[in-house]
Amino acid sequence: MSADPGSEHLLFEGDAADACLALPADLTFDLVYLDPPFAVGSTMSTRDQKGQARGRKQPKSGRDAYHDSSDVEQLIAHLEPRLARIRERMSDRATLYLHMDYRAVHDAKVAADRVFGRRSFVGEVVWTPGNGGRGARGFTVTHHTLLVYARKDRKCIVYQCDHPLLREPYAATSLKMHFTKTDRDGRRYRERKIRSKRYRYYADEGRRLGSVWTDIPAMVANTPLRKEATGYPTQKPERLLERIIRAASHEGDTVADLMCGSGTTLVVAAQLGRRFVGSDQSPVAIETTRKRLDQAGLPYRLVPPSR
Ligand SMILES: C[S@@+](CC[C@H](N)C(=O)[O-])C[C@H]1O[C@@H](n2cnc3c(N)ncnc32)[C@H](O)[C@@H]1O
Repeated sequence: MSADPGSEHLLFEGDAADACLALPADLTFDLVYLDPPFAVGSTMSTRDQKGQARGRKQPKSGRDAYHDSSDVEQLIAHLEPRLARIRERMSDRATLYLHMDYRAVHDAKVAADRVFGRRSFVGEVVWTPGNGGRGARGFTVTHHTLLVYARKDRKCIVYQCDHPLLREPYAATSLKMHFTKTDRDGRRYRERKIRSKRYRYYADEGRRLGSVWTDIPAMVANTPLRKEATGYPTQKPERLLERIIRAASHEGDTVADLMCGSGTTLVVAAQLGRRFVGSDQSPVAIETTRKRLDQAGLPYRLVPPSR
């Protein structure tokens, strides 16, 4: 554990690279979630009032939140040195979840391999936000990809899988074929012998979650009908962050999101008993995050820039 459970939460307004310089020298991250721009080719705008359009800037949009107009090469040139700065701040058992979509994920993988080393690539998660129309030219891409990297050794990362949010139901055929026994409490189970040790699996506990996540709709973060929606473009659902934070950190750990947007990671981390470190270079993002933290009753300290 790198942080005292009582450590204060920290927020920095500015570039992620500058945040890394300005943070206390002994502070390390146990988990990093990073959701950069995707190279969509547009300015991204907020919805501050009824009738405004959130997302790609249009005549009816709210304020400009951030620019996502770079091409893929420019985006990667921006991202790679920041990944390197962030990696220097990560503890030995920390992981980084880099959230991308199809536009730049393949270039980002090559860049992240350069920064972390290919052997530190833990794997990837495919998340289906479940929104968006369907185009006429080819299959519409309906997923995002989260690349997962270990700071150091893949074998010593934090990975937990017992919480119900980190489980999924067994396949119907498996339940029918294998879960044929019932214990005294009426729970269905199967037993397996692996290297002379006997293991019991209960049907109602489900199995460890795989890497394709289809059960967390983005809509909850994006419709004004839901409490968690802030109107910030590309806001991610709290449940997505809850799953990542529960899987890859312990209570009292430090969770960082240095492109925090509306502050989703920060709110969820604090509510799960982790300490957060956040930053964003967009004043609108910081304003949104501060409002959200205040509404949730979560105190934090604003970190001044280093001189
Ligand atoms: C996709 S949004 C993040 C959304 C966020 N995950 C949420 O749930 O609200 C990307 C964010 O990265 C920020 N950003 C881009 N480059 C940055 C940089 N170098 N340093 C800090 N923030 C940056 C943008 O201002 C924007 O808020």
